[in-house]
Amino acid sequence: MLNLGVLISGKGSNLQAIIDACEREKIPARVAVVISNNPESYGLERAKNHKIPAVILNSKDFSNKNTYELEIVKNLKQYDVGLVCLAGYMRIVGTVLLEHYPSKIVNIHPSLLPSFPGLHAQKQALDHGVTVTGCTVHFVNEGCDTGPIIIQSAVPVKEKDTEETLSERILQQEHHIYPLAIEFIAKGKLKIEGRRVKIA
Ligand code: GAR
Repeated sequence: MLNLGVLISGKGSNLQAIIDACEREKIPARVAVVISNNPESYGLERAKNHKIPAVILNSKDFSNKNTYELEIVKNLKQYDVGLVCLAGYMRIVGTVLLEHYPSKIVNIHPSLLPSFPGLHAQKQALDHGVTVTGCTVHFVNEGCDTGPIIIQSAVPVKEKDTEETLSERILQQEHHIYPLAIEFIAKGKLKIEGRRVKIA
């Protein structure tokens, strides 16, 4: 059984999709701990509803990124976490986390990377005028949304889409592909070869 540590900042709908997939025993994994950098995150409630330990670690309470991430690592180790899942975690991962969990941190991003990395990916897609966007699950490296890609799902952009309607349709796909990517990892099916991720 793989122990997951899920890092969040917001409403936590991806966290919920992961919890549900684990509870349905679709994934040989369990969410061992949820860590939020935002005390107001609704994801903290979701964790509580499922009796999952939830920790608030606000980067503002630490003198620098390294001490902040060392505290995250301490909590992850306490729960014997083997895979760190960023689920709407709105901070760039630094060297401390990366060094403690090499190739063991994954992220979901609401665009077809490498298009539209960083913040407001859905708005970036609308502003650019693309007709297809989507979402990406990828391994995390030192860059911003630049790690090897595990799964992507395409979402057509409709003429009347607003940032909200497009985000909602992308989110539905996120809830499918994130648990699936975690399932592949938990079952030992993924091999990273350079930039490519092979699924056995
Ligand atoms: C999701 O759309 C996720 O892809 C995005 O934030 C949202 C979080 O929703 N993440 C990023 O933009 C990371 N750069 P959730 O809190 O309901 O899972």
